[in-house]
Order: sequence, then structure tokens, then C-alpha cells
Amino acid sequence: MTTEVKTLEDVRNIAREKLKGICGVYKDCDGDPRRLCQGQGYGRSLGIGGIGSGASFNNNFLALRKYNLKMKLINKDFTSDTKYNFFGKELSMPIMAASVAGVNSFGGDKVITEEEFCRSVVLGCRDAETIGWRGDTYTYSFENSYGLNAIAEAGGWGVKIVKPRDQGTIMKFFNKAEEVRCVSVGIDVDGCGSYAMAMHNKPVFKKSIEEIKELISSTNLPVIIKGIMCVEDALIAKEAGAAAIVVSNHGGRVLDHTPGTAEVLSRIVEETKGKIKIIVDGGIRTGYDVLKMLALGAESVLIGRDIIRASVGAGIKGVQIHMEYMQKTLAKAMKMTNCKSLEEVTSDILV
Ligand SMILES: Cc1cc2nc3c(=O)[nH]c(=O)nc-3n(C[C@H](O)[C@H](O)[C@H](O)COP(=O)(O)O)c2cc1C
Repeated sequence: MTTEVKTLEDVRNIAREKLKGICGVYKDCDGDPRRLCQGQGYGRSLGIGGIGSGASFNNNFLALRKYNLKMKLINKDFTSDTKYNFFGKELSMPIMAASVAGVNSFGGDKVITEEEFCRSVVLGCRDAETIGWRGDTYTYSFENSYGLNAIAEAGGWGVKIVKPRDQGTIMKFFNKAEEVRCVSVGIDVDGCGSYAMAMHNKPVFKKSIEEIKELISSTNLPVIIKGIMCVEDALIAKEAGAAAIVVSNHGGRVLDHTPGTAEVLSRIVEETKGKIKIIVDGGIRTGYDVLKMLALGAESVLIGRDIIRASVGAGIKGVQIHMEYMQKTLAKAMKMTNCKSLEEVTSDILV
């Protein structure tokens, strides 16, 4: 007899069992060197951890911990409104699932197949009234286009991020994304640091402004550039005509010793706010973390590793439960800092 999964605790307990030896599903997913995921040798598969020393992964967590929230209570009671408009779609929250791919490469199909994983993320997010982004890895091709298949099943309710492969291949993926009516497409420019692609004969490249412009003009969909960690790259993405950037170090998986994203976000916001949509990810685990990122100037955020645990734990339902938890904790954080709506969130709520 299977027991019904009801709470986030249930989801995480099942994930802990299934991810034995891969991820401890700890209370704090912080990339600390003592964690199971970081106990891997140099040059070995990354698993769910961070690259090299794990410093970039750990810095994401530490950068967020440097900020605290100003509790401000004396006011008439209200319920905070977390609704968010993303490229014309009404979402219940400014929180989406990150473009994560290749989970079966470290877990194996017994943990979850790539097809199940993509369906869980896209359909689970849809059930929570938000959007699941899908990534790209060496097992993906036009024949096995797991992410786009799930997005097609959801009637286009998804975002497809393609690795910085050769121009022709990216354009073919963008074209297919347009056919299935994706909300948006993008490139994770930091994916040029992926060993896995290169090792499996799927080369990835740094991209010039001309190449980014060419990709943007090849599609009618809004294009997102993911993997921005400095003002210079943010300005280039804007100049190339990108619709949005994701301030991200790929969850600390592509270059050792980068700062945490919360550390570089404010400078990027200073230079580009109002000119381009700014999204951020890295180490965001609760609505309290989300609120910190919004207060630092991001418009919305992505959740990476926690979505892997949620989908491994209970598939579509697990992702829905996790996303609803994120929405609830964001609404609570907003209420306790006296923000009725997302427009009222400013850096004043940080202490
Ligand atoms: C196992 C794994 C696979 C990932 N695959 C991709 C990918 O295919 N494309 C991409 O843009 N980012 C990928 N990422 C990075 C995430 O999209 C996101 O930037 C990161 O996980 C956010 O940090 P967090 O895990 O601390 O929330 C991956 C991350 C992990 C952990």
C-alpha cells in the first residue's frame, strides 16, 4: 500500500531515501565541504554538488545569510499579494523552477528518469501556477528532447534554456521551442564551463555579442541570457537585445571561487534596472531568501537543487508541494516586513 504524500516533510523524507550516497537532503543545502555532495574527488562527476572546492556553491548560501529582514508589524492586518506577471503570463509567485537537466546521469533511472523529471517539473509548477524552466545536457537531442516534450505536453507552459552549443543547433532548438509555443527561450552562457558536454562530444562555446544577436534575431520568442555574474556581461546582454538576464553562477558548478549571486546582484541592478528583466538564482531555499533577492532588486528568482529533491521525492505532486511552500513562506515574509505587494518590496526591508 502506498501512503499519500501530503507534506514537504514527506517529500523530502522519500527523496533522502532515494538519493542515498548522492544528496543528504540536509536542512541547509549549503555546499559545505563536509556535505555528501562535496565529498567527491577532483575530476569526478559533479553529481548534485559544486565544482572543485565547492566555494562558489557555498558562497551563494553565505551571501544570502549576510542579509536579515526588518520586521515591521504595526499596521492594519492584510494578506500579501505574491502574484507576478512573466512575459504576459499571470503566475502565483515570482518564483520558478530553474533549468536543471541530467538528473538521471548521477542518480540513474532508478532514482528518476529524465522524462519523469522533466514532466514533474513542468507539470508540478503548472499546478502551483508557476513555470518550470527546462535545461539541456549531453543526453538531450532532437530525438530525445525531454524538456521540450514536457513543455509541449503542458501546452507551451515552460521556458527552454539551451547550452551554448554551435549556433545552428541552438537555432534548431529555439525553432522547436517556438513550435511548441514556449513562453521564452534562452542560453546558459556559463554552460561553456561544462565538462560533461565536452566529455560526451557535445562541444560548448563562449558566445560573442554578434552570436548572441544572431540567436535573438532567429526567434520571435523573448530570449533570456543565463549565467551573468558581472555588470559588463549584463550590459552586453542588454545591448544584444536580450529580454532578460539570470544572475547566476550555475549553482556554483562551472567555475570555482566565484562570489555568491546575492553579492553581485546589487551592482548589476544599479546599472541595468528598468532596462532589462533581472532574475536571479543560487542558494535560494525559502520565501525568506526570495524576499532578500527581491529587496536587492531582482524581479523574480529560480529554484534549482530543491526542485530536484521535490521531483525525486514525489514527482509532479512533490514539485507542486514544494512550490506552494515557497509561495507561502514568501507571503509570510512579505506580511512580516510590511509589504502588501511585490511593488512595495525595497531594500529598506533589509537590515
Ligand atoms: C544537477 C544540476 C543540473 C543543472 N543543469 C543545468 C542546465 O542544464 N542548464 C542550466 O541553465 N542550468 C543548470 N543548472 C543550474 C541551475 O539552473 C541553477 O542555476 C542552480 O541550480 C541554482 O542554484 P541552487 O541549486 O542553489 O538553487 C543545474 C544545476 C544542478 C544542480
